[in-house]
Amino acid sequence: PRFFALVPAAGIGERSGAGMPKQYVEIAGRPMLAHTLAALAAVPRLVQTLVVLSPADDRFEAALPGCSAWVARVGGASRADSVLGGLADLRRRGATDDDWVLVHDAARCLLQPSWVDALIDACEHDAVGGLLAQPIADTLKAGSADGRVTATVDRRDKWAAQTPQMFRLGLVEQALSAMGAAATDEASAVEALGLAPQLVRASMANFKVTWPEDFALAAHLLVVR
Ligand code: CTP
Ligand code: MG
Repeated sequence: PRFFALVPAAGIGERSGAGMPKQYVEIAGRPMLAHTLAALAAVPRLVQTLVVLSPADDRFEAALPGCSAWVARVGGASRADSVLGGLADLRRRGATDDDWVLVHDAARCLLQPSWVDALIDACEHDAVGGLLAQPIADTLKAGSADGRVTATVDRRDKWAAQTPQMFRLGLVEQALSAMGAAATDEASAVEALGLAPQLVRASMANFKVTWPEDFALAAHLLVVR
């Protein structure tokens, strides 16, 4: 089997408040998406990366000139729809059920090639697949709508799910098709089939740029590392 990366980059970035899709915001001199794709391009075992854009995207060519990734303008209304569109495009390009697909958020631009290698090393002989994740360090609270603590949640078995998430093309397509737009990541859809993906520890630095204040943190980390 081969290893492909699939990068959903068809979101609007509403929570970021950037006034444009956040994947095109410049961080440390380059659009966020360029940092993300550069990290994946530095992983030799990945034969190719497919970027999923919105059909209405009019920024990609100007923002990432000469980009060597495959591009599919098949983004949908939800992240799961965008990933499903990308999986179908990978099939059109010759990928098969047994190939591994590493789905990685465009918005996780701090990705390090060594974390991708760790994920592949841990999962390439696994019957299910797995994901990068980080054990929760903070004490966890459940809260009410008006902002009062309703419970303290045992954090000891809790992990924050990140990406890449690595599954065989046939399995992840079946899982996402069954769960639909409710799936916020690939692993939850695979779990709904009764399977247990492997948790592979990465780093807090593999966070997803989501809120306005995240851009400065990402820029700082890209510059100092
Ligand atoms: N994504 C996508 N298609 C969608 C929604 C999201 O390809 N319909 C992608 C985003 O571009 C992002 C990744 O999925 O790289 C993770 O989603 P998220 O961080 O939620 O990004 P947005 O949906 O763009 O942001 P927001 O939810 O704040 O609008
Ligand atoms: Mg979103």
